[in-house]
Amino acid sequence: MALTDFAAAALRRLDPETAHQLAIRALKMVPLPTPGADDPVLATSFAGLSLSNPVGLAAGLDKNGEALHGLSRLGFGFIECGSVTPRAQPGNPRPRLFRLAEDRAIINRMGFNNAGLEAFAAHLVKRPGGAVVGANLGANKDTEDRAADYVAGLTRLRGLADYVTVNVSSPNTPGLRNLQGRAALDDLLGRLAEVRGGDATPVFLKIAPDLTEAEIGLIVEAALDHGIDALIVSNTTLDRPDRLMSPLRGEAGGLSGAPLKHRAAAALRAAAAASAGRLPLIAVGGVDSGAEAYARIRDGASAVQVYSALIYEGPGLIGRIKRDLAARLRADGFSTVGAAVGTAR
Ligand code: FNR
Repeated sequence: MALTDFAAAALRRLDPETAHQLAIRALKMVPLPTPGADDPVLATSFAGLSLSNPVGLAAGLDKNGEALHGLSRLGFGFIECGSVTPRAQPGNPRPRLFRLAEDRAIINRMGFNNAGLEAFAAHLVKRPGGAVVGANLGANKDTEDRAADYVAGLTRLRGLADYVTVNVSSPNTPGLRNLQGRAALDDLLGRLAEVRGGDATPVFLKIAPDLTEAEIGLIVEAALDHGIDALIVSNTTLDRPDRLMSPLRGEAGGLSGAPLKHRAAAALRAAAAASAGRLPLIAVGGVDSGAEAYARIRDGASAVQVYSALIYEGPGLIGRIKRDLAARLRADGFSTVGAAVGTAR
């Protein structure tokens, strides 16, 4: 077992939020070796990004962008930090993070706890060279004009991040998901397009898995109309599948990990069908193996992100996914990731 996986196993014995804080602190302090070069078959480009591999870290682990140097040593092709809101806010009262070990799942109702846009920007200024870093934007809980919060995030962080994600899908800020409706989305994306002007920073949109195919179709059209560069599918779910076994399954919040897999994959397929190759997609939700990453790529994803599986398996998971994905691409005769995107459709 690699040292980092041993550390992850030790952290799982602690209360989840304490473990999370210790992991961030360790990533900030412990000097980790530079990872080896990625297999060239894993290199890929889409939406203005050039990645050495398509396995990214999903938003929410490094909310303040404070552990980017450590995270950049774990082998990810890209790292999304945030969600950041314009003003610092404490988030919901604890406990707000729950490990459903029997289900390989997590429930969280963190509520966008973060140190605010200025602290985030100060960290991004000192980001590691060579890493591809995205900034995930949220809105303050008590804001009057949510769209204005995203505009503020984009204005402050463009040029500092390699891409910016407009997160309208966290379930823990009341009303936030309503921004996924067509009228609200048109207003939000229209205002973002206005401030973007000619700026080249790609803007991605992250959606919920709890949407119908028709709703996903409308979002895809709105994204295309307003020049969004990629869709991230998906955030956590409010659904509680019957098969959940953990006594914590009744906790309020967003569910992630293995029980989200099918729902996130179905949302991805709906987005792929609606976009028909017009909009790059990033798959997230229950990705826990090379087989799952490959399946999402063949369903239409240009890249994947992981979070919950990393908590259960430790950072060694990233190398395992990459090795298995490379082997699967070669076995099926693909010489690039891009050649495999959408081939199952
Ligand atoms: C998240 N996620 C998340 N997403 C986001 O856009 N902004 C955020 O701040 C957070 N925060 C957050 C905290 C915690 C504790 C978890 C577990 C998740 C959602 C995350 O990025 C991802 O979309 C889901 O977790 C689904 O992927 P996994 O976990 O099933 O791989």
